[in-house]
Amino acid sequence: MENNDSHVTIHMAASLDGFIARKDGSVDWMETSDEFTAGGNHGPRIRRGFLKTIDCYVMGSRTYETALSFEAKGLGWAYGDKPTFVLTRRELARTRDSVEFYAGDLAQFVKGRLRPRFRSIWFVGGGVVSGECLRLGLADEVRYSILPVLLGNGIAFFEKLDRDVALHLTEVEAYQSGMVRSHSGWRGPSVGPGLLPAPQTTIARPDDGKTLHAFGDTLQIKLSGDVTNGGLTLGLGSTPQGHGLPPHIHHHEEELFIVLEGGIRFLRDDNSTGPLGPEQ
Ligand SMILES: NC(=O)c1ccc[n+]([C@@H]2O[C@H](COP(=O)([O-])OP(=O)(O)OC[C@H]3O[C@@H](n4cnc5c(N)ncnc54)[C@H](OP(=O)(O)O)[C@@H]3O)[C@@H](O)[C@H]2O)c1
Repeated sequence: MENNDSHVTIHMAASLDGFIARKDGSVDWMETSDEFTAGGNHGPRIRRGFLKTIDCYVMGSRTYETALSFEAKGLGWAYGDKPTFVLTRRELARTRDSVEFYAGDLAQFVKGRLRPRFRSIWFVGGGVVSGECLRLGLADEVRYSILPVLLGNGIAFFEKLDRDVALHLTEVEAYQSGMVRSHSGWRGPSVGPGLLPAPQTTIARPDDGKTLHAFGDTLQIKLSGDVTNGGLTLGLGSTPQGHGLPPHIHHHEEELFIVLEGGIRFLRDDNSTGPLGPEQ
């Protein structure tokens, strides 16, 4: 049975003209020497933390072969010990326990086997598999990283798409390396490719918003996911002294706290706690 909480993401990096590899499969062009000083630069800790939120990977056999060749060159295996499903009709070498091969109906595989078992499912290429995933309507989101280079020719991000797929841009970020990462989904109103919906302003009055209570905390929701198309929830909360939510992790959302009064302790990844707030 399909798990409504599961989320299928297609993620790859491409040249500005939409190629994920040269015709011969090489990806040497990914190391660009560009510098965009106004861009962001997420450190390895944030990247590692983010990778932990991914539950499994799916890839085509040619991408698997590229990953094995990287490993043979001493560049490591990019997928950790997360379950990695490789689509192939050939007999390929199984180099680790986390790798499993599959051949057959991709829709059945994703809906019947992956979605019930995993929450965050990442398709990491290549073009054939991404195209198949999109044609079958299996993905919830496309994460597209564009590098500042033109190749003129190569393997396309989505091979053999037979129709337009109108996406809705939900996030875009530029990095110091000159790479631009965009997230696009199918949720909410579709807009034409390349068009952004007009920004909307929402005004919340002091009494507006549903109030939730948990573990002694009160949270008044000022802006809900229904209004922001699932992009943001904004709440005003208060925690009485000695209370607070038990330690928990959100695998699909990022949380930002601004402490307006008093102080609060957060449990960090290394199990230390840190006091934060104006009265600490
Ligand atoms: N830039 C990036 O972010 C990025 C990311 C990933 C990959 N890449 C590059 O992309 C290239 C590979 O992409 P690609 O489009 O050529 O190939 P691919 O999508 O990686 O693999 C295609 C192969 O997957 C197998 N396959 C697909 N659907 C299947 C199904 N339903 N059941 C069984 N097998 C299935 C078939 O393999 P068999 O022939 O074995 O049956 C097919 O030939 C590599 O050069 C890689 O370096 C780049």
